[in-house]
Amino acid sequence: MADINMLSEIISEDVTLNLVEPDIYSVYSTGDSPGSYDGIGASTIYDVVACNRFYNWLMWGYSVKDYAALCEDSLASSSEGWVLDLACGSLAFTAEIYAIFSNRPVVFLDQSLKLLRKGKSRLEKLKGNISENMFFLHADALDLPFKDNVFHTIISLNLLHCLNDVKTVLSEIKRVLTVDGNSVLTTLIQSSRWSNRYLNMLAGSGALISRSSDDLLSAFDEMEMQVTHEIKGNLAFIKYG
Ligand SMILES: C[S@@+](CC[C@H](N)C(=O)[O-])C[C@H]1O[C@@H](n2cnc3c(N)ncnc32)[C@H](O)[C@@H]1O
Repeated sequence: MADINMLSEIISEDVTLNLVEPDIYSVYSTGDSPGSYDGIGASTIYDVVACNRFYNWLMWGYSVKDYAALCEDSLASSSEGWVLDLACGSLAFTAEIYAIFSNRPVVFLDQSLKLLRKGKSRLEKLKGNISENMFFLHADALDLPFKDNVFHTIISLNLLHCLNDVKTVLSEIKRVLTVDGNSVLTTLIQSSRWSNRYLNMLAGSGALISRSSDDLLSAFDEMEMQVTHEIKGNLAFIKYG
């Protein structure tokens, strides 16, 4: 079971953590869950449809295997220090990687309690238990409950297209990342593919934010974050640090 004293060392002094269940902590009062993915059916649709490999290949033009490779490389980029998986969801693409990773402490953070529970159960099934240096944290990516400069590695898959306010989350990532740390992010963006119409339809219904790669990259520029990027289909892979 997770060791709360270890987690407390990186938590801001003005933040109180509430135990939701073994291994899951929340910055919110018991019963509160502001995550939009906690609506009825939303977490299941996300987990079953949006994370399906055929859906992602056909609709968005990339392989979900790319996530595992990105996550693996990022975890291997440093042999020490804390890892943050920011907006980890249900660990649909990465649970296998984390199941064989134990040498550094990891915080899995998300605003959806339902997806955190799914992520925990997915990891538990693969590992048999949750290591004492792995923590599920129910909190807001736009107001991270951590001290400055505490994470050597930040992985954030598919959060940016859920947020209107990309600059706030980028400034939070910069704040909590160590000076020599690194971060990898992915997000859906517009492309010249036919799927652009579907992306814009989803954006019109409020399900996500549709951005061009120029808009996305200029947000990093404005935050003075020098990044490299690669685009596959409608997905941008971004590396910072
Ligand atoms: C598209 S899902 C991606 C989940 C996971 N990283 C993946 O790639 O499967 C977006 C995730 O962002 C989370 N999220 C959205 N807004 C958030 C916020 N302000 N703070 C923390 N998590 C947030 C949602 O709950 C959801 O789990």
